[in-house]
Parts: sequence; structure tokens; C-alpha cells
Amino acid sequence: MDSNNTSNTSQAEKIYELGEKPPLGLVPENMHAFCVRQDRFGEPKDAWQREILPVPNIGPQDVLVYTMATGINYNNVWAALGYPVDVIADRQKKGEPEDFHAGGSDCAGIVWAVGSEVRNVTVGDEVVVHSGWWAPDDPWVLSGKDPMLAPSARIWGYQTNYGSYCQFTRAQSHQCQVKPPHLTWEQAACYMLCASTAYRMLMGWSPNIVEDGDVVLVWGAAGGLGSLALQIVTAQGGKAVAVVSDEEKRQFCLDKGAVGVINRNEFDHWGPMPDTTSKEWGAWMKGARAFGKAIWDAVGERKNPKIVFEHPGESTLPTSGFVCDLGGMIVICAGTTGYNVTLDLRYHWMMQKRFQGSHLANDQQATALNELVASGKVDPCLSDTYSFDEIGHAHQLMHENKHPYGNMACLVNATQTGLGAK
Ligand SMILES: NC(=O)c1ccc[n+]([C@@H]2O[C@H](COP(=O)([O-])OP(=O)(O)OC[C@H]3O[C@@H](n4cnc5c(N)ncnc54)[C@H](OP(=O)(O)O)[C@@H]3O)[C@@H](O)[C@H]2O)c1
Repeated sequence: MDSNNTSNTSQAEKIYELGEKPPLGLVPENMHAFCVRQDRFGEPKDAWQREILPVPNIGPQDVLVYTMATGINYNNVWAALGYPVDVIADRQKKGEPEDFHAGGSDCAGIVWAVGSEVRNVTVGDEVVVHSGWWAPDDPWVLSGKDPMLAPSARIWGYQTNYGSYCQFTRAQSHQCQVKPPHLTWEQAACYMLCASTAYRMLMGWSPNIVEDGDVVLVWGAAGGLGSLALQIVTAQGGKAVAVVSDEEKRQFCLDKGAVGVINRNEFDHWGPMPDTTSKEWGAWMKGARAFGKAIWDAVGERKNPKIVFEHPGESTLPTSGFVCDLGGMIVICAGTTGYNVTLDLRYHWMMQKRFQGSHLANDQQATALNELVASGKVDPCLSDTYSFDEIGHAHQLMHENKHPYGNMACLVNATQTGLGAK
């Protein structure tokens, strides 16, 4: 072994502190990472703990990215709770050995190693990672159909291990998008998961896509998904009507392009729709009609939403179904308030509405969205930036709906915020 190899070996054995960059391309054996274990499932602030983990090996189509900053997403609140899915047990059933979940589904960083078949990126490239993951040999994927509909599709950093809460994260090379150069590491890290999900919801389900002048109702409009949806609707020429629960969020939504804002606390008909033969149903219908009128007031004319951008689910879906326009679409990517939904089917079939599930995004959708960000038409809506050791805290804020508007980020290897941070 020559002296150069000896020094590389000892460098590889060393654990690099956050921000202590190894020579470009040198991959250490271990790293700092935040992970969840089954015996601490529960409150995110306790479930997420810093540990030292091995740096993962990569396959021929994978990349290893030196994570500069990570976004924080709701999926890893669910991972911390171990509900509705125990992601560790789920992966172990599929044959993966790890007894921890080192999550994180939003990353901005530097490509540090590439597999033998990778052609689209090289070591040193600055990238943003989108979280659509699928098996490269899945026959559905190989057939060229939408890979997000493939049986093997997973959410990277939630259903896969070694996500962006690791100093070195493992991803598939197709997940890499060019980091918009005008963004800081923390801005670049915070938007991709929510923004690409919102893009697919609004532009992926033809013919129900946002067109010039279309009204779109956006629930949770100051949240991660909502703040990006408002801007995507506006960029496509649509009229976004924002729903919030707090007057303080009103101006934020207007600044992000909403034509009007509705405070849901002015209504009380939320939750599952009562039986249509009951007395309570009349009161429910009165509330739903008043909410529909509030949409017209926000738009300034009697126009119903062509698209309802849904994610609260159980609590709001009956209203979403009622206010959706003739031939319109309720598109949903979550059921944050519950999964047992009620819908007045009479309105649904007579007015030929569409109820569409949607999940994350494919490569083309992530690229189209990234171009909107790169051109400045969509702002990542970075709210606050936290340190690496505040990863659990940031999830706890989200769990309690106490997080700041927009999208949060945590620094990983970046040691300072702002442009030019190394
Ligand atoms: N399937 C996918 O690909 C995908 C991708 C991204 C996110 N998601 C899921 O989507 C959901 C939202 O994510 P997010 O990042 O936007 O979270 P977020 O930043 O917490 O925003 C959610 C918003 O929902 C609103 N909300 C809370 N309770 C509500 C209720 N009872 N009725 C109506 N609105 C309510 C809140 O706004 P107000 O209190 O102001 O109304 C909150 O700001 C999560 O469950 C997440 O896991 C799914």
C-alpha cells in the first residue's frame, strides 16, 4: 500500500464534522445522521435523534450527495409517529436489514459519488433532489409509462433509508435536478417535495389542469403545499382562492398570488357530512353554501373552482366536493385530518366531477417545476432555517401546526445561511 492509499484509508475512517468537507469524492465510512428507531416512535422531538451511521453503498444508477441543507416535510412527522405506517418494519418485510429510519425527503447538496451507469450528473455538481424513487428494473418503468404509477414507486427519504437528514444521502441519479443558482442552500433544500407534488396535482391530470382564468381553491394555503400551489396556479394564469385558519396568514397568501383569502374559522360545518336524510344535514348544507358564496366573493364573480386542491381530507372533503365546478376536479394528496371521507354523490355524478388521488411527481413534472423556480416565477417560500440538531424540533412544530408559513429547512453540512455559504 503506498503512502497516498494509507492517508486515503485513514481519511475514509474518520468521521467528518458538519461542514468539515472531505476532499471532493472521498467517501468516509461513517457519518452524522438523524434517525428514528421503533422503540422511540412518538412525539417527533423525541423520536428524531442524532446518531452515527454507516455511509451507505450505492448501486450502479445511484448517486451519493453531500447534503448541504435539508427541507422538513410532514411525511417524517408520520415516520416519527410510526403511524399510519411503520416505515422500518415495512422495509424489513421487503428484505432491508436496517433497524432505523434515517429520513429526509428534500435535499440540496453536492454530488459526491456516482454509480457506474450514471450519465446525467458528475461529482461536484450542485443539485436539488426530488423524491420520486422507483426500481430501475420495474417492468412498468421500463415500458416508459408514468413511473409514479409503478408498483415499485416509493417516496425517497420516507419509504427509503439514508435520506437528507444524513451528511451523505443516497438517491437515484434521475432524482437530481440542477440547483437554481440564485438560491441559497437552505432555500434550495426546502421546496422540491411540496412544489413537485403541487405541480402534479395542478398540471398532471389532463384535461383537468389549470388554464387561464380558472378558479382553484387551495386548502392550507399558507402551508408547505399551499404556498407553492398558490404560485403555480398564478404562474399558469389561474385565480387561486386561499383558505387559512388565521388572519395573520392573509397577507402572506395575497403576496403569493391569491386573488382572495377565506378564513375557515368563520364556518363551523367541518367534519364528516351528516346523513343526507337527517336534520343536521340541512345545517351542514347551509354552511357549505355559505362557504361557496365566500369563494364567489373572493373571486369577485359567481365562478366555482375548476380544481379543488385538497389535503386536509375528512374534515373538508364534503365541502370540496360540493363547491367544485361542473366537470371540475377535486385532487387530493393527503388526509391530514382523517381518512374516512364523505361525499354527496348526487352532486358528484350529476355534475360529472372528478375525484383524483395524486402522489408526489415524476421526473418531467419535477423538472417543469424546477424551471418555474429557476425562472423566479415560483419562490421556495423558505420560512425559517434551523440547525442540524433542531431537526426533531422542526418536525414537532409541524406536528403541532405551530410551524412558520411556507417551508422549513435545516442546515446539514452548510455551516451558515445565505448565498456563498460553503
Ligand atoms: N402525497 C404526497 O405526495 C404529499 C406531498 C406533500 C405533502 N403531503 C401531505 O400533505 C399534508 C399537508 O402537507 P404540508 O406540507 O402542506 O403541511 P403544512 O405546512 O402543515 O400545511 C397544512 C395546512 O393545512 C391546514 N390545516 C390544518 N388543519 C386543517 C383542517 N382541520 N382543515 C383545513 N385545513 C387544515 C393548515 O392551515 P390553516 O390552519 O391555516 O388552514 C396547515 O397550514 C400532509 O399530510 C403531508 O404529509 C403529501
